[in-house]
This record gives sequence, structure tokens and C-alpha cells, in this order.
Amino acid sequence: MTEDRLAQAPASFRAFVAERRDDGFRRAVQNLTPEALPAGDVLVRVEWSGVNYKDGLAARSDGKVARISPLIPGIDLAGEVVASDDPSFAAGDRVLASGYDLGVARHGGYSELARVPAAWVVRLPDGLSAREAMAIGTAGFTAAMSVEALEDRGLRAGAGPVLVTGASGGLGRLAIGFLAARGDEVWAASGKPE
Ligand SMILES: NC(=O)c1ccc[n+]([C@@H]2O[C@H](COP(=O)([O-])OP(=O)(O)OC[C@H]3O[C@@H](n4cnc5c(N)ncnc54)[C@H](OP(=O)(O)O)[C@@H]3O)[C@@H](O)[C@H]2O)c1
Repeated sequence: MTEDRLAQAPASFRAFVAERRDDGFRRAVQNLTPEALPAGDVLVRVEWSGVNYKDGLAARSDGKVARISPLIPGIDLAGEVVASDDPSFAAGDRVLASGYDLGVARHGGYSELARVPAAWVVRLPDGLSAREAMAIGTAGFTAAMSVEALEDRGLRAGAGPVLVTGASGGLGRLAIGFLAARGDEVWAASGKPE
């Protein structure tokens, strides 16, 4: 990112950092400068990030998902573009990013500022706030892709009951909602008696 574009970023920002050190595993909110962010085309002022199981693992010494240290966890983020080197995005655009290496091999969303490749950035559709996008989150995105994959294989709304396994989980609960909203009769299978 060019120096003049970087100048549009705040001089410092806060981020939650997980770090493997000689004296142990350290988790702390730190004040960082934009230079601490990885290279990328789009600088985003993060407003919301979801909490995913993977984020918990990324913040534990025995989690086995973090591939860099120090790491800012957060596998998704949503907010506003501060500056962009890619013509597809401009300052003020409302965007989200989810998955890829975010929060595992590259600094993620638990930060007031993030820099991401333009190819990972998606414009927020009208009517969907950054908060709503992250409440649906990566789990909701995955559940929606699962429903879409079933549709691609011939599942038609209302054609018959649809069984959701792992129904009490993050993905399962959202899949139940998406299928019900399509007009499906949903059968939920859960290993939890309650
Ligand atoms: N969350 C994401 O963003 C995401 C993204 C991509 C892929 N995935 C994958 O999608 C799957 C579900 O993710 P999730 O976030 O919904 O996880 P989750 O919240 O932990 O839910 C998983 C559910 O699976 C059921 N379950 C757990 N252990 C089981 C076992 N031994 N046998 C059968 N069922 C078992 C449980 O539901 P019941 O007690 O109701 O049966 C549990 O609530 C996982 O394989 C995950 O790796 C998740």
C-alpha cells in the first residue's frame, strides 16, 4: 500500500494479540501502528468480528490453528474501507471479509484496523449492517453454502423434510433457520437430551 494511502490510517490502533513467547503464551490488547499490519490492498476500519470456535483455538497455546506468532485472531471482520489500492474499493465502502488465512496465518478481525487482499473483500449488500453480517458470521456463511450446495443437487423448497444433524451447534442452528425461511419442514437431530 502506498505511503500516502497509509497516511489515511490512524496513527495507532488497538488489537487483541496472541503471542507464543519464551516465557509462555501471552494474550493482551495492544496498541499497534499500521506498519504492524501485513501487506494488502484494502485497509479496513473494523467495526465487528464474530466469535468462532477457531478464534478460541487461535488464542490458546494448545489450539494448533495459529500459523504465525504474534497473531491477531478473528477469522472474519466487517466495517468501512479507510483506503484501497484496488480500484474495486474506495474509502467509505462498507465491506466484510471472512475465512482464507484471516486470524490464523494472517492478522484478523480482533483489531480496530485490518489490511486484507482485495480478492478477500466483499461489499456489504444494502440492508445488511456490519453487525448483522458478523452475527450471521462465518458459521452462517458456511450453513448458507451448505443449503446452496443441496439446492444445486436438486433440493427444492418445501419438497420434503430436511434433516439437520449437529442441530444445536453454531452451523446447525443457522441452517435450521435458513431452511425454515425457505419453507422447508426441518427435522433437527441432536445428541443433547436437553
Ligand atoms: N463454524 C464455522 O464457521 C465453520 C466453518 C467451516 C466448517 N465448519 C465445520 O462445520 C461443523 C460444525 O461446526 P459448528 O461451528 O456448528 O460446530 P459446533 O458449534 O461445535 O457444533 C457441532 C455440533 O455437532 C454435534 N456433535 C458434536 N460432537 C459430535 C459427535 N461426536 N458426533 C455427532 N455429532 C456431534 C453437536 O450437536 P448436537 O449435540 O446437537 O448433536 C455440536 O453442537 C464442524 O465440523 C466445523 O469444523 C464450521
